[in-house]
Amino acid sequence: MSLAGRVAVVTGAASGIGRAIARALAREGAKVAIADLNEAGGAAVAREIETDGGTARAWRADVTDAAAVEALVAQVVKQWGGVHVLVNNAGWDKPMPFVETTPDFWDRILALNLRGPIACTHAVLPHMIRQAHGKIVSIASDAGRVGSSGEAVYSAAKGGIIAFTKTIAREVARHRINVNCVCPGPSDTPLFQNEFARVSPKLAASLTRVIPWGRLGTPEDVAPAVVFLASDEAGFITGQTLSVSGGLTMA
Ligand SMILES: NC(=O)c1ccc[n+]([C@@H]2O[C@H](COP(=O)([O-])OP(=O)(O)OC[C@H]3O[C@@H](n4cnc5c(N)ncnc54)[C@H](O)[C@@H]3O)[C@@H](O)[C@H]2O)c1
Repeated sequence: MSLAGRVAVVTGAASGIGRAIARALAREGAKVAIADLNEAGGAAVAREIETDGGTARAWRADVTDAAAVEALVAQVVKQWGGVHVLVNNAGWDKPMPFVETTPDFWDRILALNLRGPIACTHAVLPHMIRQAHGKIVSIASDAGRVGSSGEAVYSAAKGGIIAFTKTIAREVARHRINVNCVCPGPSDTPLFQNEFARVSPKLAASLTRVIPWGRLGTPEDVAPAVVFLASDEAGFITGQTLSVSGGLTMA
């Protein structure tokens, strides 16, 4: 699957699943813009890609700031002449019973996990429509398909992304822009280690136990699905939701 000549923006690519996606897209020949709050981490991933012979550049970006996202996309287009792939990957959660959550927490979760992908999609679409070509892949979650105790607002955001994806896919199909979701299940990343495994080893163990494949996912499990959906080979696939979760959900 060649992505030679393509320009990809991957949000949250300084760590975990986003890092693996950025590296995998670069291996297929895409120029990768790493857009992350963590500038040093993003620069380190860009160096890894360059060391492997790829092309990448890190931009400090906060996906909750729509104006900043628009400016970032404009810079990427100026530098590399277009934007062909957007991977909405930046996300975060802190599991806790819904009754213990606060409105400030809801706002934070929704701003990052729902409004962020909406802002990034809004920023790239005019360029993709002009090109009559584009691939948008959003990293949702199995939590958004079947629910996940302790993750009510996050699940609402991820379910929202799945519904948003379907609607945008319908709106832009005539411009030959594919819009899809990939849903990881529990995956071994810094997010999972910091917010799940370290806080509640029991919760992490029970989440692992219910995965038919018998282990957590890895970033490298998720990345190939994203590369496929970003490729021309997936040109007739749009509005779909693909779980990469060892059989956790089969809906
Ligand atoms: N790890 C899991 O178990 C799991 C399961 C299902 C879905 N997901 C989803 O996968 C995606 C990646 O998660 P991960 O586990 O790799 O997390 P991670 O914490 O390892 O990486 C997330 C990255 O996003 C960046 N980020 C956070 N806020 C940002 C912002 N406002 N703007 C730009 N970048 C920001 C962080 O700096 C970090 O580099 C998220 O959308 C997450 O919800 C993860």
